[in-house]
Order: sequence, then structure tokens, then C-alpha cells
Amino acid sequence: MKILGVESSCDETGLAVFDTEAGMLAHAVHSQVAMHAEYGGVVPELASRDHIRRVIPLTRTVLKQAGLALDDLDAVAYTQGPGLAGALLVGAGFANALAAALRIPALGIHHLEGHLLSPLLANPRPEFPFVALLVSGGHTQLMRVDGVGRYALLGETVDDAAGEAFDKTAQLLGLGYPGGPALSRLADTGHPYRFELPRPMLHSGDLEFSFSGLKTAVLTLVKKAGLDNQADIAAGFQAAVVDVLAGKCLAALKKTGLRRLVVAGGVGANRALRARLDAEMAQRQLTVFYPPLDLCTDNGAMIAFAGGLRLAAGLPGADGRFAVRPRWDLAELAAIAA
Ligand code: KG4
Ligand code: ZN
Repeated sequence: MKILGVESSCDETGLAVFDTEAGMLAHAVHSQVAMHAEYGGVVPELASRDHIRRVIPLTRTVLKQAGLALDDLDAVAYTQGPGLAGALLVGAGFANALAAALRIPALGIHHLEGHLLSPLLANPRPEFPFVALLVSGGHTQLMRVDGVGRYALLGETVDDAAGEAFDKTAQLLGLGYPGGPALSRLADTGHPYRFELPRPMLHSGDLEFSFSGLKTAVLTLVKKAGLDNQADIAAGFQAAVVDVLAGKCLAALKKTGLRRLVVAGGVGANRALRARLDAEMAQRQLTVFYPPLDLCTDNGAMIAFAGGLRLAAGLPGADGRFAVRPRWDLAELAAIAA
């Protein structure tokens, strides 16, 4: 079966074609980063309008790359939520209209399900069950994943998401938007232990996270130490985030007794985090899996893929209504599947 995937939840328009037999046939992403940069963050209305401009040309691009015509498609999978309401509506409207015209199903996909299944696109791929660390701009969660559609929340952030902390700290350091990748590059050139920064909730005994205090600690440090020490501050911040994320992953593996960890979402592209997790897992004969690097941040491939897995498992779209879900708890999926 050939599935067109449509991602438009935030500031990337992502399209892809996944074949349940042959694998990923094509994927293309248009990032709106340059457009939003001058405002210092995503402007929702501009995001929606840009998705409208990009979605049809990108569909043509991926179909051409895949050597397919519209009639060859068997289903359209689209991000139904969570995300920006207007942005989601563009993808949902397009996917539902196309599916109706082609008389094929439209499958609403949970954006985080797309992220957490994306490591299955890598080689080698993890077997179920596994612990998933979802670290994106909007979410920081640890999930237990027993199969497609079978997710249980183990813990999550009580305030900022890890990516949000990266972006806000980058802004404090004058690195612009979106700061995560720039902050990480700068951090790699600094001394991580020159300045002492807190490891919030590292020893809280549960699997919750908190990152807003760390951001405040960086602000205090910048006021005291000045921006001349930018690289060392960035390195200190990154080391603190990596310590907390790695510590909580190990705690989640211990608590569940599982031996496989999967890391997904934009912060999963962070090199220091990957190096640390690789080392910690290897030391304990545990295995860690990541999505291919270009599929860490938002993309249509993970949505097409999640759609393919749902179809193959005989599961419907996560929510059969043509309604986007700007706010959506992943735990609700288990209830729908049951
Ligand atoms: O998954 P994603 O593309 O979008 C959401 O669903 O949120 O994640 C984007 C987040 C942003 O906060 C971005 O700064 C962060 O991922 N990010 C990184 C890196 N690359 C992207 N954070 C740290 N290091 C990176 N290399
Ligand atoms: Zn995302």
C-alpha cells in the first residue's frame, strides 16, 4: 500500500510517500524558519498561509520522486494534532479533500506517534516493547511503547520542554531563532563545567522533568558573567540538559525493566545527547535507537510511516473525525485502540 504523508503542525510543511512493501519512496520538507526568524518565533497565521502555498507543489515533488501518479495512492495520512490550529487545518483540509476525490481513506495521525515510531525507519530498527524519550520543541515525555497504538506515559515535563529550553536559552545568549541547533554548535566549543548550573529534578525519584529553572539560572549567570563567556555558558547549559535527560532515561529503563531506548523529536538530533546515551547504554548492555538524522525534526515521512503501520495493523486513524486537535494527550490513543 502506498501512503501519502502530510505534516503541517507547526513551521515545516512535510510531504512523503511510504510504501508498506518497498519502504520510503520519497520525502520533502519546506522549513519556514527563515520566514519566522525576523519575528523571533513562529507566527501562527503566517505559518498557515505558507503551508497553503507549499502543500500542493510539495505533493507534486514527492509523487514525481516516487515515480507515482495520484491514482497510485492507497491512503493519505496527515497530522491531526497536536499543533497550531490553523496550520493543522491546512494539512487536514488538503488530506481529506484529496482522499475524498481519490476515494481512499484519510488517516488522522498523532504528531507524537509519528515522532516516536520514526526510529523504526532506521536500520537496525528496535523491536517492541521499548522506552521512548520524546524531546521536541513542545514536548518532553518518557513513554512505554508496547506496539503500534499502545503507548503509556511514564513521565513528562512539568513546565518547559527540552527544545523550548534550548530555544529560550539561545535567545538569552543572542543566538536568534530557532536557537537549539546554534546553541548546540556553540556548546561543543565551550567548557561544560566552568560554570555550575542546576540539574533540575534529576534526583526527584520520579520520571518528571523541569527546565524552566535552568533557563532562569542561565539568565542569572549571563547577568553575572556576561556574554563574553557565551560558549562556556552554552556548554554548561547543554551538559545540564543532557545529564537530566540521560539520568531519567536510565531511571525509566530500570523502572520498566525494558532494555531498549528510542529517542525521537528535534532535540534527538543533539550530538552531545547522542554521545552520552550511546556511552551509558553500551556500558549497561542496553541498546539505544535514533531516527535517521533528517527525520528527527518535523517531516512528512514519519506521518506517512505511522499511517502505514496503522493500516498494516488494521487500526483506523487515531481519530476518525475530520477535526484537528491542537491540544491532544497521547494517552488517549490507548483508549481509542481498546
Ligand atoms: O520535533 P521538532 O522539529 O518540532 C516539534 O515538534 O517541536 O523539534 C524542534 C525542537 C526545537 O526546539 C529545536 O531547537 C530543537 O528541536 N533542536 C535541537 C537540535 N536540533 C533541533 N535542540 C538541541 N540540539 C539540536 N541539535
Ligand atoms: Zn515535532
